[in-house]
Amino acid sequence: MQTANQNIRPVTHRINEEGNIEIGGCDLTKLADEYGTPFYLFDEATIRSMTSAYKDAFKSYPKMNMMFASKAFMTKAICRIMAQEGFGLDLCSAGEIYTAKESGFDMSKTLFNGNNKSFDELKMAVEYGVGTVSADNFFELSLLDNVAKAYNKKVEILLRITPGIECHTHEYIQTGHLDSKFGFDLTQIDSAVELIRDEYQNLELKGLHAHIGSQIFEKQVYFDEVEVIFKEIRRIKDKFGFELSEINLGGGLGVKYTEEDNPISVYEIAETIINSVEENSKKYGIEKPILFLEPGRSIVATSGVTVYTVGSSKQVPNGRKYFAVDGGMSDNARVSLYQAKYTVDVVNKPEEEKNQTVTIAGRFCESGDILAKDIKLPELEAGDLLCFYTTGAYGYSMSSNYNRVLKPISLLVKDGKSDIIIDRQTFEQLTEADKIPDRLK
Ligand code: LLP
Repeated sequence: MQTANQNIRPVTHRINEEGNIEIGGCDLTKLADEYGTPFYLFDEATIRSMTSAYKDAFKSYPKMNMMFASKAFMTKAICRIMAQEGFGLDLCSAGEIYTAKESGFDMSKTLFNGNNKSFDELKMAVEYGVGTVSADNFFELSLLDNVAKAYNKKVEILLRITPGIECHTHEYIQTGHLDSKFGFDLTQIDSAVELIRDEYQNLELKGLHAHIGSQIFEKQVYFDEVEVIFKEIRRIKDKFGFELSEINLGGGLGVKYTEEDNPISVYEIAETIINSVEENSKKYGIEKPILFLEPGRSIVATSGVTVYTVGSSKQVPNGRKYFAVDGGMSDNARVSLYQAKYTVDVVNKPEEEKNQTVTIAGRFCESGDILAKDIKLPELEAGDLLCFYTTGAYGYSMSSNYNRVLKPISLLVKDGKSDIIIDRQTFEQLTEADKIPDRLK
């Protein structure tokens, strides 16, 4: 069965009677008139189609603990959707913990991740009742035990391990290979387990956690990841005499940005993981554990688009034709950071033939601020609206105020209705934290 991460466009995408792109029953030209551009738009139906697909695909495995990796896109409204969908939240900073709590999220259904959690962040996690902490390193074990003692609490932890699995994705978003800044090397697990047993009385080790990377298109790496984790659980059982009961496989399922991308479906990844758990639990004589998953990108990427207005243009003599839009690297850092590619349509003329090769530049003051290089589009003019697809994950969440440009507004659309879920920043907000020292006044 197909799932939305295998499409470029949101599930409610269509061309309406006026010949414009419509998503979630909203004509994007009308949204541009109402809210201005650029704007991020999120299609609620697409998000929920993905959360439903994850639940459905794993329904034969009774001990699931689905978490949404908030780093992909987090706002209070998204937290509410995840709560309604029965998902937990994977959080990786005090800011994310705070947002979850403010949204009214049941904090016992959250997990705290990260390779350098500070004392204050761990304190906040314990105080707010975060359900599980994924402990990344020796330094953190000691910090967390101290915090837990101070609150007279026992904190449930997973050990984040580096399984030594390489997946074929961009180097910056690979995380499970051996030379990685994340987690305990397999050779360090025993010392960690000993420390928890002998010294860290306020930590309760529940299981192991790994995350092998992001934008993954292969099934085999998940099969192998499960095997590595089971092997370690067996080894720990033989050496220490207890069996860990939770495993967290991280996130990573890929999405379709362009026609060249062929991600697998949620059902395929589920089948692979469930088969591997069955097989390895028999092979290693280990009870089937509670299984955590933390997908981020695949839940929100396809739901999101960014809409820009075309402004100036430049024909380089005997060279490229550039069109500049009113956003760029501050609302989408992925192009300059990972050479990411996107599919683009013209909102107000989606059916015109794409017969020109153009380069879409951002409005920021550096040459690297290009949003799409040498793509095919119809004839463009100032005022046309461009729709960049699949920007729902790691778009807003990695945005900045570079050049002191305000962050775009974020809209959630459903059944012809658009709601603001993050308002456009104001100049007052932009400058409210600035201070002028007395000697400069
Ligand atoms: N769990 C852990 C421990 C992670 O580090 C991540 C992502 C996830 C889950 C979610 O992975 P996903 O399902 O989204 O692939 N900024 C990059 C992606 C960085 C991913 C970081 N970790 C990008 O824009 O491509």
